[in-house]
Amino acid sequence: MKNYKTLLEENRAWAEEAFAKIDEKMQRVTLRSRDKIADGVKDGVHVSRAPNTWTAGFWGGLNYLLYEYTKNEEYLKTAKRSEELMDAALMNFTKLHHDVGFMWHILSGAGYRITGDEKSRVRNFFAATTLASRFVLTENGGFIRAWNDKWGGKEVDGWSIIDCLMNLPLLYWASREIGDDRFTRIAMEHADMALCDHLREDGSIAHIVEHDRTTGELVTTYGGQGIAEGSSWSRGQAWGLYGFTLSYIHTGEERYLDAAKLVANYFISNCSDDWLPRVDFRAPAEPVYYDSTAGAIAACGLIELAKRLPEGEGGLYMNAAVNILKALYNNFMNFDPDTDDMLGYGTVRYPCDGDEKKAGVHISIIYGDYFFTEAILKMLGSEFLPW
Ligand code: GLY
Repeated sequence: MKNYKTLLEENRAWAEEAFAKIDEKMQRVTLRSRDKIADGVKDGVHVSRAPNTWTAGFWGGLNYLLYEYTKNEEYLKTAKRSEELMDAALMNFTKLHHDVGFMWHILSGAGYRITGDEKSRVRNFFAATTLASRFVLTENGGFIRAWNDKWGGKEVDGWSIIDCLMNLPLLYWASREIGDDRFTRIAMEHADMALCDHLREDGSIAHIVEHDRTTGELVTTYGGQGIAEGSSWSRGQAWGLYGFTLSYIHTGEERYLDAAKLVANYFISNCSDDWLPRVDFRAPAEPVYYDSTAGAIAACGLIELAKRLPEGEGGLYMNAAVNILKALYNNFMNFDPDTDDMLGYGTVRYPCDGDEKKAGVHISIIYGDYFFTEAILKMLGSEFLPW
């Protein structure tokens, strides 16, 4: 197996070509969508979402990623505009939820680290405080509560979801920033709960866990956005892969690294020969439903994992990341600068009752564009970690 650095060098020209196309397209899109909280398209034009939507940070975050690498001020203007548009959500506290890390840490958190803007720092602290306030302490540890409203008619006050691992870097950041580990303690309680309750022995992951709010014990798990209870929703696997990797990066605790490797091994061994992620690794072979976003997220996690492992072992993960990214590039990308969508074939959840429109099947989703770009920048050697 070739090592991480060799694979990086061998694929440099390809990554440069991919980034040139992203940049050429995004220089146009950033002007057109400056006043939107962009996510998804209608007739090739970005749709604008409400600022409290969990995906609301990705458009501005993508612009910060592009600004950090290119120093093109047009990207900075769009990213800053996005932060302003999202202030309405900060002022509407009851509508906020566990995903404030997705929403602000890669936007205002990244913005502060890139530009030093104090307003961005304050926004990110507000988000961190909101996230910390969702911690449920039980007799045996605790967890960060998911969502606010009922889900499928069920009460969710004892629920945690694997996606939330991606919100934890916001807490690690807040602790480092003020020199008080109280945010980190909450993040590690949640990550440790995920090790016990979300991660299965074979390296697959349950999307949703219901806990007893007194004892913290696992009551049951739910399939969530996957095909069924006990299934393996590929984006959930990717959140776990990258999420545990990030907890390892921020804490240095080997148990998170071991978990990330276990999930990565499971993810890689469940990829099809074509390296295009199916929406659920336990879905029937037909019909084929893809989720490109799972591939882009996993690729980011695999590259960060590869960097931190001995050469041979790291090569295994880097090789998988390159295969996934090239498969997405060759099959699902739209680089036409006259349309706003880039990575196609994202899927919101496993089709329910054959209603593909309701389930959001094979569509452009903003975080697909975000993670694909983040992965390509890693392949170009960027050391900026937005999480
Ligand atoms: N965090 C929700 C999703 O991945 O669809």
